[in-house]
Amino acid sequence: MALRTICIWPDPALKEIAKPVEQVTEETRALVRDLFDTMYHEKGVGLAATQLAVPQRVLVIDLDPKGEATKDQAYADELADWGFTGPVALINPKFLEADGKIDFEEGCLSVPGVTETVQRKGHVVVEAQNEKGELFKVDAYGLFAVALQHENDHLDGKVFVDYLSKLKRDVIRHKMERLKQDRDGEASESVA
Ligand code: NI
Repeated sequence: MALRTICIWPDPALKEIAKPVEQVTEETRALVRDLFDTMYHEKGVGLAATQLAVPQRVLVIDLDPKGEATKDQAYADELADWGFTGPVALINPKFLEADGKIDFEEGCLSVPGVTETVQRKGHVVVEAQNEKGELFKVDAYGLFAVALQHENDHLDGKVFVDYLSKLKRDVIRHKMERLKQDRDGEASESVA
């Protein structure tokens, strides 16, 4: 298990446009494992390689990280409606279809403690490669469609705060600066 550090917005690494993975190798699989490990550790439902300052087109999603669907039939039904069948890694995702509209309150591990409503497509069909390099398709609705668009945005150097007003973004920027100062303060204390 390897945890990696998640870049906090507005880290310039988050603006980088990720490059396609030319060949899925053991290194790619290690990156996928680290993405899952880091995402679960930080209690997120999605993570893109860009957020680890690795500019490669790789993302992971798990809409049921605590396994609630096994105890909660309503949530299991909802996941099924969204087309979500379990933890998934997408390498070189490509959107084949996108339609409908959905408003969803989003958060991001790169913008901790902030949630804002963003409008996305309500249905997407995405083709990607799996950890073996094989092509597969996902047909996603609801939160699954939102997560795919949110994470794919990261691969294009975009963060959900880019959709907000400048005023909101400035408030969030200050919040992140304070958070960074607190974290840097803690780090220097632990050194001393
Ligand atoms: Ni994010």
